[in-house]
Amino acid sequence: MQLHFSPSMKSLTISSSNGFVDLMKIKVAARHISYRTLFHTILILAFLLPFVFILTALVTLEGVNKCSSFDCLGRRLGPKLLGRGDDSRQRLVSELYKNLNQVNSIEVPDGIKLPDNFTQLVSEMKSSKYNAKEFAIILKGMMERSEKEIRESKFAELVNKHFAASSVPKGIHCLSLRLTDEYSSNAHARRQLPSPEFLPVLSDNSYYHFILSTDNILAASVVVTSAVQSSITPEKIVFHVITDKKTYAGMHSWFALNPSPPAIIEVKGVHQFDWLTRDNIPVLEAVENHNGVRNYYHGNHVVGTNLSDTTPRSFASKLQARSPKYISLLNHLRIYLPELFPNLDKVVFLDDDVVIQRDLSTLWELDLGGKVNGAVETCQGEDSWVMSKRFRTYFNFSHPLIARSLDPEECAWAYGMNIFDLRAWRKTNIRETYHTWLKENLKSNLTLWRLGTLPPALIAFRGHVQPIDPSWHLLGLGYQSKTSIESVKKAAVIHYNGQSKPWLEIGFEHLRPFWSKYVNYSNDFVKNCHILE
Ligand SMILES: *[C@@H]1O[C@H](CO)[C@@H](O)[C@H](O)[C@H]1NC(C)=O
Ligand SMILES: *[C@@H]1O[C@H](CO)[C@@H](O)[C@H](O)[C@H]1NC(C)=O
Ligand SMILES: *[C@@H]1O[C@H](CO)[C@@H](O)[C@H](O)[C@H]1NC(C)=O
Ligand SMILES: *[C@@H]1O[C@H](CO)[C@@H](O)[C@H](O)[C@H]1NC(C)=O
Ligand SMILES: *[C@@H]1O[C@H](CO)[C@@H](O)[C@H](O)[C@H]1NC(C)=O
Repeated sequence: MQLHFSPSMKSLTISSSNGFVDLMKIKVAARHISYRTLFHTILILAFLLPFVFILTALVTLEGVNKCSSFDCLGRRLGPKLLGRGDDSRQRLVSELYKNLNQVNSIEVPDGIKLPDNFTQLVSEMKSSKYNAKEFAIILKGMMERSEKEIRESKFAELVNKHFAASSVPKGIHCLSLRLTDEYSSNAHARRQLPSPEFLPVLSDNSYYHFILSTDNILAASVVVTSAVQSSITPEKIVFHVITDKKTYAGMHSWFALNPSPPAIIEVKGVHQFDWLTRDNIPVLEAVENHNGVRNYYHGNHVVGTNLSDTTPRSFASKLQARSPKYISLLNHLRIYLPELFPNLDKVVFLDDDVVIQRDLSTLWELDLGGKVNGAVETCQGEDSWVMSKRFRTYFNFSHPLIARSLDPEECAWAYGMNIFDLRAWRKTNIRETYHTWLKENLKSNLTLWRLGTLPPALIAFRGHVQPIDPSWHLLGLGYQSKTSIESVKKAAVIHYNGQSKPWLEIGFEHLRPFWSKYVNYSNDFVKNCHILE
């Protein structure tokens, strides 16, 4: 007899052979289903198993062997269970239920010997090793044990995912190396970007200026290509791609060799902004300190975490805090846009894990009501996880400074696709507030908040945010695979925030095509680096 749950948990089959109950197999597909699903599985098992046991017992007693499904067994045995059988069997059934109920509130004794698996349970049961109460306790012990195992494997999975997410894939590394090499060997790769006749356009406010800050060349190419291909007026698009010193040559080569005409592209390294290298800009130092404190204070979360008082979700957020992304200068750079682009009035700032699917020029026409930052709010919406972010999600309200200064119920908003009115911004003290809070957090050993750049921005931009329609910016494609394809198709910008970036193996397969359709697989560099093959 076989008991089989389909991975969707929708079906359960019991098959029997030779008229004997000799195998009871419970399959739980642990790899691709969420913790919550697993938890429900456990609950379902807990409810079903007693019933299965009763059926098993009756099947054994009666030698019923002509059924191959649970339903059929239920139909055959149902009337008997419901009382048409003789008194003794009815007593047996109700006694079993009574025992199972009692055991619910009893602790499983320490050191009890549990069967290794359900096969063994069934075989021990057949040899009448247990009375009903013992059986119920054993069953409960086994349920608890498998719940614990599932929890532990969930944590192990998170750790593996974390390392998978924070290492640069070989193909992307290769791309960067080869393009850097090209920069030194090929004059065309070093050509001025944009060509001299277009230089005035870089500060011309009649164009649509996009700013992208990243060290991932492939991701940058997807953002630029998707923006240009989705635009109704690509000749009005100017992209300012900012990267770090080590990626500069490779990034420059890429856009020199693969321009997206008629759009205009500028590539700049952080070392080329005078403003950033001035001694009095505390960001560089703050970032370094941040790194130091982070290593000191948070140490290695993976070793020594007590799994029994941590939930997978809080564990995941601890892991995320360790991710280098959250302390990189490229990430903090967005708070200096008014200074880095002194001649520009309005810009759209994009993260490198987005794809643009609609013409965005109307963003520049939105009335921001004098506010600085047009952003999508993340505290309401269909998705109960991605869209449930309030200040209490990001800040430590046990800290007196936070409790005193902030409202836990205030709605959070998202970075990733923001329209910034730099003229309005220049009249505020957003940057000073940002710096002040960065320093406060450093002083408090990073106990005010854990994740890098959004929390201080949530504080600094208070009162300066204009909510824009959620259809502009769909979040969460790197968090969860259940994002609906329909909503992905409808959104103007989709954002793979979360670990499962589309360029990583752990990216969600069905969401990847929305990104990869903008990768040029016939490009020699992409081909030779075997990207996502
Ligand atoms: C179940 O446990 C028994 C005893 O440890 C072992 O011999 C058997 O191979 C196990 N069966 C399965 C399916 O793991
Ligand atoms: C983990 O936490 C549980 C519950 O808080 C506690 O009983 C247990 O002793 C802790 N284990 C370790 C290794 O600290
Ligand atoms: C931060 O950590 C350092 C090093 O352990 C300690 O000396 C200092 O008191 C801590 N500061 C706060 C505010 O907890
Ligand atoms: C939150 O703040 C309190 C008070 O300063 C501190 O004891 C606690 O460790 C902080 N929590 C985190 C997760 O940093
Ligand atoms: C893809 O790359 C090839 C070779 O570099 C180039 O000829 C082609 O125009 C590119 N296609 C697109 C859509 O950019």
